[in-house]
Amino acid sequence: MIKIRKVAAISALGAALLSNSALADGTVEVLHWWTSGGEAKAVGTLKSAFEDQGGTWNDSPIAGGGGDAAMTALRARVVAGNPPTAVQLKGPGIQEWAQQGALNDVQGVAESDNWDAVLPPALAGIMKFDGNYVAAPVNIHRVDWFWANPALLEQAGVTEMPTTWDEFNAAADKLMAAGITPLAHGGQPWQDATVFEDVVLGIGGAEFFRKALVELDQEALTSETMVASFDQLRKLRGYVDPNFPGRDWNLATAMVMRGEAAFQIMGDWAKGEFLAAGKVPGKDFVCAPTPGNGFVLNSDSFTFFKVSGEDNLEGQRVLAGLIMSPEFQKTFNLAKGSIPARTDVPLDEFDMCAQRSHADLIAAIENNSLVPSMAHEMAISRSVRGEFLDLVTEFFNSDMSSEDATRRLAEAVARAM
Ligand code: GAL
Repeated sequence: MIKIRKVAAISALGAALLSNSALADGTVEVLHWWTSGGEAKAVGTLKSAFEDQGGTWNDSPIAGGGGDAAMTALRARVVAGNPPTAVQLKGPGIQEWAQQGALNDVQGVAESDNWDAVLPPALAGIMKFDGNYVAAPVNIHRVDWFWANPALLEQAGVTEMPTTWDEFNAAADKLMAAGITPLAHGGQPWQDATVFEDVVLGIGGAEFFRKALVELDQEALTSETMVASFDQLRKLRGYVDPNFPGRDWNLATAMVMRGEAAFQIMGDWAKGEFLAAGKVPGKDFVCAPTPGNGFVLNSDSFTFFKVSGEDNLEGQRVLAGLIMSPEFQKTFNLAKGSIPARTDVPLDEFDMCAQRSHADLIAAIENNSLVPSMAHEMAISRSVRGEFLDLVTEFFNSDMSSEDATRRLAEAVARAM
């Protein structure tokens, strides 16, 4: 009996010590949508790093690729007056929440760690509101990628990764003839939009992409180039297997891994899935940019919602500092499939796809072909993006003509602006 009481007393002391240290190093509740194999591994590196510093991490994952479900959950939490401490958020979404006065800034951390000196200016701009940092970027993802199973390509006699959509169609026709599903696709609006924007880049080039999907220019939206983009999307629809509706993106990646389909068109979070499954780039899978000689930018970042309590505020500061530390940027991005947001992290331990991403990013900045992702909320407001997703998905799942799709998309965007 005495012994039991003693144990209880010791654990009470332990708990007190623990809670003291948690108080000193902060607590965060982190809302994110990283639940696939590769994603969970990557966010696990952030959780461990935060806990290693003595912090307390409360995980709030909301499953659903692309984050649409997470954003719905976030709105409900904020409306209920109970926002999470840290939220995975990006692009104009950061500005929208900041404008509503919902975010704390982390300018103090940003200044003492000199974020301005190590972030690409384009990215730094997205993270700031009224000149102060309100978000900390974890990575640079590229959206315009093909992922392919080299054994299947070989089997069908496809010797090169396609560099134009016509070449892709020719490769896909060969694969079909060999009885292989050319394209693994998950029929969810954000995935349809991911494929669509990659097609737009390849058909129209970066300048057209910018006009149509970023500036929402009516002339571009109603152009023949847009009709041709829908024509190519219709082609791709013919290359997917019948079970595509509703499929999660990581299950589409798994089809390429298992040799059930030859290609997937997806951002480099797909690489995180291959790596988490122990697959080796250049051997078990290959990567190549989709056509267009551009770079469709997507960057994940965390924002810090207005919460009270010194422990929570400390948690926000510690997390912000950690996210931007060079060591973390390396570890995280090796798992996530992306490259660091910081420009000063050496890439020698990164694989060939990451090296390619980095080289193409620099080239794209130089020749003005870097474009922000519409599908991944880097370019336009959620409401206009919603119009794109609805229309593209309806097109993909019906026999709507490309002309009708172009007209209806332009009208919907004009209404929503
Ligand atoms: C993107 C996000 C990536 C990846 C993907 C699938 O929007 O930027 O980090 O998680 O969704 O969930």
